[in-house]
Amino acid sequence: MALSSTLSRLNLIPRPWLPYTVTTLRALKLKPHKPQLLRPMWAPLTLSSFSVSAQIHRPQDDNLVVLGIETSCDDTAAAVVRSSGEILSQVVSSQADLLVRYGGVAPKMAEEAHLQVIDQVVQEALNQANLSETDLSAVAVTIGPGLSLCLRVGVQKARKTAGSFNLPIIGVHHMEAHALVARLVERELQFPFMALLISGGHNLLILAQGLGQYIQLGTSIDDAIGEAYDKTAKWLGLDMRRSGGPAIEELAREGDAESIKFSIPMKQHKDCNFSYAGLKTQVRMAIESRNINAEIPISCASSQDRRSRADIAASFQRVAVLHLEEKCQRAIEWALKIEPSIKHLVVSGGVASNQYVRARLDQVVKKNSLQLVCPPPSLCTDNGVMVAWTGIEHFRMGRFDPPPPAVESEDFVYDLRPRWPLGEEYAEGRSEARSLRKARIHPSLTSIIQASLQQQH
Ligand code: KG4
Ligand code: ZN
Repeated sequence: MALSSTLSRLNLIPRPWLPYTVTTLRALKLKPHKPQLLRPMWAPLTLSSFSVSAQIHRPQDDNLVVLGIETSCDDTAAAVVRSSGEILSQVVSSQADLLVRYGGVAPKMAEEAHLQVIDQVVQEALNQANLSETDLSAVAVTIGPGLSLCLRVGVQKARKTAGSFNLPIIGVHHMEAHALVARLVERELQFPFMALLISGGHNLLILAQGLGQYIQLGTSIDDAIGEAYDKTAKWLGLDMRRSGGPAIEELAREGDAESIKFSIPMKQHKDCNFSYAGLKTQVRMAIESRNINAEIPISCASSQDRRSRADIAASFQRVAVLHLEEKCQRAIEWALKIEPSIKHLVVSGGVASNQYVRARLDQVVKKNSLQLVCPPPSLCTDNGVMVAWTGIEHFRMGRFDPPPPAVESEDFVYDLRPRWPLGEEYAEGRSEARSLRKARIHPSLTSIIQASLQQQH
């Protein structure tokens, strides 16, 4: 089978400014025996698109208008943002009914749901902004990490829009977008800063040294905190329409957080990594031992049953967040050794919209004489604004792809990165997170950017 079609099946292509390394091919068990077929058909073969970028007319940096598209998981989101930081529109269509029906994200169903609404969501974002595609400077889209079936819907839409209107495309890292949206909210936020990114699929502690330059201090060795919130909510029979996190946060206010002594994960590990699989099991056992029946929705539970569920929710939340607090404390110590000038800890991602999480982390941050930066909840959960803003940040640096051809060709293959690390692991955290390496497919965003910068010099 021709390599190009193999890559096409795998939804992978090289990007002009992102070198498609042999490591990646090795991970895919492919041999680069026909290197010419590795070229994207719509762009010149270059390891750096900076030369390409220079040929594209760019409006003044402070007058960019970028459309951001996000479909990496179960939210279909689009937004239009100006480089001045003005949010012109923000549209999110969530798959609440599917979440309720399947108790989680089912990739094929999620893909179909994205396909059904993507055109409408993007159109609505343009309408709300009172703009048409011809007013845009570029299209930014999440290319990873995430579910490839879902990512593809957004990338296809971005490609179509950019192709039809001759607009450059910026491929965005979802987790970088969660972190950088804090710079839109807090314009004083300069590099270097730390970020704790907590969502349904990721728990990341990073040191952001510059745009596209991240050191990964810690990550989850199994489940992310959002997944633990979602499963706990499902097992407690809570209303999942707004996802499990908000339901647990609400119910936990009624409960006694000290009533069940769940053990804090990874106490003995002197690193900054996370684990929520064990806590999930402890919660499951507590639920079973109290004969709580998830088939009975919380709205129909007796007051004693409700109380018992609330105690579990509160006890779970206390320990889940204590785990964050402990790892953040260590990460701050590590980060200050590397970059003593750090002043901020950004907390972002869906779970960062939780008020209890914010309050507890604020205490940790204050104790270390740092400042907490938490975007508003609508910018913590998945959204198009963060994608558009991250696109703007990279576009200003000349990091973007030239417009794709207007007419879709069979040779065009999509560049998706379902498993894509943000940065390189910090040496002190490395030993205990070794098992994570197996999951790596793409070189990290940071290593790719560093390689392309070296190419320039
Ligand atoms: O960042 P996000 O919107 O999507 C992913 O990239 O995963 O995060 C979604 C996660 C879900 O697990 C959801 O339950 C959790 O964020 N979440 C919350 C809250 N709001 C959303 N978790 C705890 N408390 C909340 N208020
Ligand atoms: Zn997210």
